[in-house]
Amino acid sequence: MRILVTGGAGFIGSNFTRMALKLNPGWKVTVLDKLTYAGRRENLVEVEKDPRFRFFHGDICDSDAVSLAMKDCDAVVNFAAETHVDRSIHDSSSFVRTDIEGVRVLLEAFREGGRRMFLQISTDEVYGSVEHGRSGEADRLDPRSPYAASKAGGELLAMSYFSTYGVPVVVTRASNNYGPFQYPEKLVPLFVTNAMDGEPLPLYGDGLNSRDWLFVDDHCRALLRVLEDSAPGKVYNIGAGQEHSNREVTDLILEIAGASRELVRYIEDRPGHDRRYALDVSLLEEELGWTAEIPFRQGLERTVAWYRDNRGWWETIKSGEFREYYRSMYAGRLEGSVGER
Ligand code: NAD
Ligand code: DAU
Repeated sequence: MRILVTGGAGFIGSNFTRMALKLNPGWKVTVLDKLTYAGRRENLVEVEKDPRFRFFHGDICDSDAVSLAMKDCDAVVNFAAETHVDRSIHDSSSFVRTDIEGVRVLLEAFREGGRRMFLQISTDEVYGSVEHGRSGEADRLDPRSPYAASKAGGELLAMSYFSTYGVPVVVTRASNNYGPFQYPEKLVPLFVTNAMDGEPLPLYGDGLNSRDWLFVDDHCRALLRVLEDSAPGKVYNIGAGQEHSNREVTDLILEIAGASRELVRYIEDRPGHDRRYALDVSLLEEELGWTAEIPFRQGLERTVAWYRDNRGWWETIKSGEFREYYRSMYAGRLEGSVGER
């Protein structure tokens, strides 16, 4: 099987590419990636010399680039997206373009080929904030940020190609991933690297928003199961059932990294900040026999160790585009911040 992995130079896509090639000697993987600020060729260095791997630098909104990369591919796994909620609040245009229009361009190229599966990687954020219980696949979608709304648009469009044209689409909705190679704008890598540098850890609001934390390897294993055995038209939640408030995550990071609690700062909240996400993953467990394997503490220890051993990777990022991004997002809010509550 040859798989097209779009967005394969990003966090989850690069972890998935490495795992897919390692566990499946008969597979070939093509990566198509625009190399935005979040995509990095060095994330793929481990597979660069593998003859089963090839890389195309291109945009999923560009139909010529997509046709070229998709040639000979049996399946597509679409990770390519703008992914950071805070950036989508600042400017949603690239989110609508990549996360919806990009999906359309991919689907149009895909439906010409008689291929096996179009796997659209979506997110638990499409359900919106869930005060009680857990979101099931049949629940109403209620996306509340421009990022979540764009992802909902992308997956609904993909499913419409299944209903209308019989394109073999499958959608997965994963919870918050963490692990090696995550761009340090997201909570876990930002706080791990700030803790290592003795910089403030900026918690939004009261720090009690909670997420269901999924180690990236567990996510990638679930996607491999879906690719192998899922029927077209299905939607699967993917989560580890490991709910933690942002304060709990912060405490654990500080403990594992051996940093001081005095680094914690409470800052002005994210607008429209979803309070809680929680997924019911029984469908994936029962139909495909998958369960999450990595407990949160163990995953976080592996993550902290990776950032400690790969300082050069994140220092390069943090001294580039990121520096101005961080200043504009955090400098003002940190001025009015308070410490440990
Ligand atoms: P990321 O931001 O680390 O990587 C995104 C990748 O997509 C980058 O390599 C980037 O260069 C590429 N890309 C962006 N626009 C593109 C375009 N127009 N054409 C081609 N490539 C483009 O993201 P991630 O955290 O690895 O997320 C991957 C996917 O998983 C996304 O679809 C995201 O919505 C979804 N997801 C992420 C999480 C999470 O916690 N990180 C959870 C659930 C779902
Ligand atoms: O739930 C899945 C989603 O998880 C993915 O679809 C998104 O691509 C991914 O970015 C992530 O979205 P979140 O908004 O949940 O992730 P983020 O790391 O930005 O924030 C996690 C929580 O931490 C959230 O409650 C906001 C809070 N936070 C975040 C940052 C960056 C802070 O308190 N301070 C921060 O500096």
